Amino acid sequence: SEERLRRVRERVRPFADFPVPGVLFRDISPLLKDPAAFRALLDLLEAHLRASFPHIDFIAGLDSRGFLIGPPLAQRLGIGFVLIRKKGKLPGPTESISYALEYGKAELEIQSDAVEPGQKVVIVDDLLATGGTMRAACELLGRLKAEILECLVVIELRSLKGAEKLPSVPLHSLLQYD
Ligand code: PRP
Ligand code: MG
Repeated sequence: SEERLRRVRERVRPFADFPVPGVLFRDISPLLKDPAAFRALLDLLEAHLRASFPHIDFIAGLDSRGFLIGPPLAQRLGIGFVLIRKKGKLPGPTESISYALEYGKAELEIQSDAVEPGQKVVIVDDLLATGGTMRAACELLGRLKAEILECLVVIELRSLKGAEKLPSVPLHSLLQYD
C-alpha cells in the first residue's frame, strides 16, 4: 500500500503559475498515462471503499476530471456511475446549483432521477482545493435525498481548508499537499 501510494505520488506533476499566477497546479496526466500507476490508484481507492462501507449504490463523479476516475472505480466495485455535470449538458429534468470559483462562478447539474431517496453515494473527484465544487455536488445530491457516504479525492490541498466546507460529510484523500 505504501508502495502503491508512492507510485501514485510520483505521477502527479506540479506546474507553477497555472492557470493563473500564484497557483501551483497538480497535474494528473502522468498518472493516467502510466497504467501501473493508474492501477495502483484504483487499487487504493477500491480497497479504501471496500474496507469503509458494506454497501454503496453509486459512485457520483464531477465533470470533468472526476469522470476519469469514477467509472473505472465503479466498475471495480460492480456498481453504477452517475454524472454531475457542468451546466447545460444534461437532458431532461435537472437540479442545478451555482457555486463560487477562485475567479468567477460556475454551475453544476444532476439529472433529477439520477438517484432515489436514501441511496448511498460516494462522490469522487481528482482534487479538493477550496471545496466549492465538492460542496455544490453535496448540495445537489442532498436535494435528491441521497445518503452521501463520503467525498473521495485523489489530492487534497490542505492549506485551502476545503474539508471545512463539507459539513457533516466525511472527506477522504489519498495525497495531501500544503
Ligand atoms: C478542478 C478540480 C476540481 C475543482 C476543485 O476542476 O478538478 O473539480 O477544480 O476546486 P475547488 O475545490 O476550489 O472547487 P475544474 O473546475 O478546473 O474543471 P475540470 O475538472 O473540468 O478540469
Ligand atoms: Mg474538476
